[in-house]
Amino acid sequence: MRRILITGGAGFIGSHVVRLFVKKYLDFKIINLDVLTYAGNLENLQDIEGMDNYKFIKGDICDEQLVNRIFKEEEITDVIHLAAESHVDRSIKNPMRFVKTNIFGTVALLNAAVSTWKDNFENHTFYHISTDEVYGSLTDEGYFLETTPYDPKSPYSASKASSDHFVRAYANTYKLPIKLSNCSNNYGPNQFPEKLLPLMINNIKNNKPLPIYGKGENIRDWLYVVDHAKAIDYVFHKGILGETYNIGGFNEWRNIDIAHLVCKIMDKKLDRKKGGSAKLITFVEDRAGHDFRYAIDSSKIMNKLGWKPSLQLEEGLSRTVDWYLENTGWLTNVISGDYKSYYSKQYISLQRN
Ligand code: NAD
Ligand code: TYD
Repeated sequence: MRRILITGGAGFIGSHVVRLFVKKYLDFKIINLDVLTYAGNLENLQDIEGMDNYKFIKGDICDEQLVNRIFKEEEITDVIHLAAESHVDRSIKNPMRFVKTNIFGTVALLNAAVSTWKDNFENHTFYHISTDEVYGSLTDEGYFLETTPYDPKSPYSASKASSDHFVRAYANTYKLPIKLSNCSNNYGPNQFPEKLLPLMINNIKNNKPLPIYGKGENIRDWLYVVDHAKAIDYVFHKGILGETYNIGGFNEWRNIDIAHLVCKIMDKKLDRKKGGSAKLITFVEDRAGHDFRYAIDSSKIMNKLGWKPSLQLEEGLSRTVDWYLENTGWLTNVISGDYKSYYSKQYISLQRN
């Protein structure tokens, strides 16, 4: 029987992974360790919280004693590690928070795995979830491959790159059985509205300006979050130990184009005049050190493991907008706390409008 510790399971991607595993693998026990930062929300998991094969533990991955105790008491066989500080803009304002959670927290988990499993590493996996941002920034051409050298350019991506290096170093030094995957930008239900797409959806709904950094020409490669969760299932079950898999949707969009697409979708759903929402688009000061383009080549996971994305952006975005329009209570709750003060500091120029 597998007893999987999923970290960060109350967050955006983590909650989709927890749901998938709890519902699909009734003979597994899923232990969700999450400290519930502003980005963690147990409402994301209401539908499965009563299931017998699921347990939630509120706690910090940086708390070494707690992490060691959980490994022993819960007899953890595997880890899927998602807990992280995940927003680039916050990492520019407070890099140390990212060093603590993303690097120190990962090492605390690695140490617990090594000390608990060291007598017999067989039948264990430490699976680390990472981002394509560790590869840096592309120009108009080319794709990130699993072999692309690391070149992180923001405090967020530098902290994730560091954690990836630690995971590989533990495989080399202590023979810890590991897997990694590096994914492109996710979107979908339950994403905290500080990230581009849910922020746009929330602001369009409330007739507020849509802040676009710089000229909106930066490019991101978008993947529906449920497809990422499925890819994690593929890598966990079929991936080869020691290997890395890049995950992406071959779905590149310029920020300004995706903003227009959300506006078009929402004009229809809100019964607004064509072009009504696009009037809210407002160009604001660019992000410091803004990576120009991310684009993932996911041929390896597609060819070797048989995974493929199920949705293209238009369909996925339409479903995502429906979810946000239907779940107004969720949205109101998550933006009631720290969000207002974060928003007013991050978008100073818009406050003056
Ligand atoms: P998120 O910010 O929505 O959620 C992070 C979760 O981790 C939250 O529930 C939070 O409470 C928890 N957490 C934070 N610090 C913790 C700590 N010290 N101890 C325990 N729990 C803690 O993030 P997300 O977008 O769901 O990303 C999840 C993972 O996937 C991250 O590792 C991120 O780097 C990676 N990733 C994200 C994307 C994306 O587009 N969002 C893309 C590729 C990879
Ligand atoms: P984001 O969702 O923060 O993800 P990441 O920076 O990790 O790719 O941003 C996606 C893109 O959208 C990125 O190029 C920055 C841009 N962006 C804006 O133009 N305006 C905004 O208000 C935000 C949050 C992001």
